[in-house]
Amino acid sequence: MSHFNWSSVLGIFLHLIFNGGVHAEFYSSADAMQDLVQVEREILNATRSYLEEQQKQLDFYRKFLEQIKEEHDWVVEQTDLNEYLGHPLHAFRLIKRLVQDWDELVFDPIVSNAPREELREFVDSVVNELGYPNPSELHGAVKGIARLQKVYNLTTTDVADGLIDGVLYDSELSWRECYEIGVVLFDLGEYQRSLEWLQVAFVILRANPGQEENENFYLSDIKEYAALANLELGNSERSERLLNQILEKEPTNTSHLTRKYIEARKPGKSSEVNNPSWYANYTRLCQGKKLPEESTGRPLSCYLDGRTNPYFVLAPLQVEPVHLDPDINVYHRMLSQQQINSIFEEADKLTMYRSAVAGNAGKSTVADLRVSQQTWLNYTSPIMKSISRIIQFVSGFDIAGAEFMQVANYGVGGQYEPHPDYFEFNLPQQFQGDRISTSMFYLSNVEQGGYTVFTKLNVFLPPIQGAMVMWHNLHRSLDVDARTLHAGCPVLVGSKRIGNIWMHSGFQEFRRPCNLTSDSYKSAAYRN
Ligand SMILES: *[C@@H]1O[C@H](CO)[C@@H](O)[C@H](O)[C@H]1NC(C)=O
Ligand SMILES: *[C@@H]1O[C@H](CO)[C@@H](O)[C@H](O)[C@H]1NC(C)=O
Ligand SMILES: *[C@@H]1O[C@H](CO)[C@@H](O)[C@H](O)[C@H]1NC(C)=O
Ligand SMILES: *[C@@H]1O[C@H](CO)[C@@H](O)[C@H](O)[C@H]1NC(C)=O
Ligand SMILES: *[C@@H]1O[C@H](CO)[C@@H](O)[C@H](O)[C@H]1NC(C)=O
Ligand SMILES: *[C@@H]1O[C@H](CO)[C@@H](O)[C@H](O)[C@H]1NC(C)=O
Repeated sequence: MSHFNWSSVLGIFLHLIFNGGVHAEFYSSADAMQDLVQVEREILNATRSYLEEQQKQLDFYRKFLEQIKEEHDWVVEQTDLNEYLGHPLHAFRLIKRLVQDWDELVFDPIVSNAPREELREFVDSVVNELGYPNPSELHGAVKGIARLQKVYNLTTTDVADGLIDGVLYDSELSWRECYEIGVVLFDLGEYQRSLEWLQVAFVILRANPGQEENENFYLSDIKEYAALANLELGNSERSERLLNQILEKEPTNTSHLTRKYIEARKPGKSSEVNNPSWYANYTRLCQGKKLPEESTGRPLSCYLDGRTNPYFVLAPLQVEPVHLDPDINVYHRMLSQQQINSIFEEADKLTMYRSAVAGNAGKSTVADLRVSQQTWLNYTSPIMKSISRIIQFVSGFDIAGAEFMQVANYGVGGQYEPHPDYFEFNLPQQFQGDRISTSMFYLSNVEQGGYTVFTKLNVFLPPIQGAMVMWHNLHRSLDVDARTLHAGCPVLVGSKRIGNIWMHSGFQEFRRPCNLTSDSYKSAAYRN
């Protein structure tokens, strides 16, 4: 196999990584990841065909050489070379081979290497069609893992063993993968986490001696990264100790340069991370744990509502109130599997975009804050027409004030940090009034994680396919209700799909009359 020109195959892939790929941001969406599975399948298939083709060609060359060698062996047995060449056919064959055969059968095909060109073209076409991830995608995926560890308090050893929140998945990481995660985290400036991954890589590598050719080199390399990470974390002594260990073994190695660098550099500050004030509530709720809180009186219980609208007399709404004032209700079994499939069919017709977060002056920015892909569906298709009916019946609001339904898909570590849904300032021109209500449909179950949490209200909601959550973002006075701050927790395992419909207050004067005296006085007290 060593005959193959691996560097040229590698070249094709490097070319792809740096130039190819019309899409970006695969990691943020489980749907986009499916394209990557397809890309890899195609590349795998094409590369196998390429190798088979090359193998055939090599067999052919070998046979050609064998034949000529046989002839030469035979010549050697002859006592008189002149007599042999005196035979006109022998002379003809020798000259023909040299003039024609070597070039045509061997040198030309080796130089032009048609299968390699075919592979290159094929792979290019696949990439143009389906896209290809770039190095920032890798960073994104690693960040996703680090984020999951932080939110769900997962130890690095557990994750490396494929143990995610108590469930063991058949996906242990190799020392090299742990090492690569450690290096990416180092590059991202996440030194503490980087150190943990480097440690796991070191332990795995050392526990399996003889598996890796350059074992000692890699062990030293890991230590060197660990020394640098410790330096950044302000642990100069540990950094020094690690470096000395390397230098004792390899006194002439590049680590001397690292030492110089370390000596010249002031140690970084200890990495006391300042989490935002909501962080403690957020992580706890994401983990499905209630916050300690005084009892608020009677527990809420589910009920059937057949009165809200005649539409629901035969199939009453299954309402689960999860919070009172502000009211948050979960309506179970609002959508059937078939209806959900129809929504996906509509969404598939459109391109998914990396979700942006509403920024200043109506400009949107793609931020780590929100990691998902999304698209918007209007209410013209049959399925969206029936959704708009449901929404109007349940909310009592007029669909004329609704934005299109936003369909979002969250992938590895996909999340949305705490945010309110109202704009408050910088209302987009095309809508009248602020977002008075949010209706969030869960379009998938999520294997682990992906809860919706209200960090100020001590509420967490696991996504349940077909259910819809609804709440009001504004008080009756139309002042914003800051208590509705909520978040989408990162997806631990699985894929999360939701559909959001935001109603605006502009068209709802007659549906939910303002009450200037009602609960509006509360808004000041709850604002931060
Ligand atoms: C793989 O390649 C073969 C031809 O080499 C083709 O028949 C087959 O359909 C390909 N499979 C996929 C999944 O592309
Ligand atoms: C995280 O898990 C460790 C045990 O693995 C535990 O000691 C620690 O208290 C947990 N931290 C939080 C914030 O839950
Ligand atoms: C450092 O040491 C490793 C073996 O431990 C060796 O492979 C590498 O080439 C050395 N580097 C230099 C610059 O001497
Ligand atoms: C955390 O949740 C409690 C309710 O359990 C709430 O009183 C508190 O304000 C919340 N803290 C923040 C910073 O949101
Ligand atoms: C609604 O969306 C479809 C594509 O899904 C588009 O073809 C149609 O023009 C849109 N209609 C309106 C009124 O925006
Ligand atoms: C406005 O709210 C107050 C306090 O909740 C209530 O007493 C009053 O009846 C409400 N007025 C209207 C018109 O709904």
